[in-house]
Amino acid sequence: MTELRVNGRPVQVDAPDDEPLLWVLRDDLALPGTRYGCGAGICGSCTVMLDGAPVRSCQTPLSVVAGREVRTVDAPPEPGSVAAHVRAALLEHQVPQCGWCMSGWQMQVTAALESDPGVDDASLIAGLDANLCRCGTYARLRRAVRDAAARVRSDAEGA
Ligand code: FES
Ligand code: FES
Repeated sequence: MTELRVNGRPVQVDAPDDEPLLWVLRDDLALPGTRYGCGAGICGSCTVMLDGAPVRSCQTPLSVVAGREVRTVDAPPEPGSVAAHVRAALLEHQVPQCGWCMSGWQMQVTAALESDPGVDDASLIAGLDANLCRCGTYARLRRAVRDAAARVRSDAEGA
């Protein structure tokens, strides 16, 4: 049995140590928001946060996450949080088409803005280069990311 925390709650998982975190989340914990894309660490659809940093869950075995904190897209973000600003911006700019890549984008952008709310737009967008969208929503995504970053900076300045 492996113990970890997922979306703020302690969980126990009865699975092999080498089972990818992606399948632990989807199959063992019934959290379907994290997507399977390539399964090879290339597309970023499976991105979750591990102790606040983005990781590709298809490449992260259960043994690596034991005793650690995993965040997925499944938990509703706290109102006013970075995650809430990112989710709202993605929706308001109508970024999702099929939506398959979106949980990965959301976790990647949220992690970047949480670790540095003052990150400049160019660095933020460059950090997203490794996530892929087969529907090609990149232009809308960039607009949404700039908007989310502006909201987060505005909050930080008003704090
Ligand atoms: S499914 Fe993990 S990187 Fe593509
Ligand atoms: S919206 Fe379809 S893969 Fe990105």
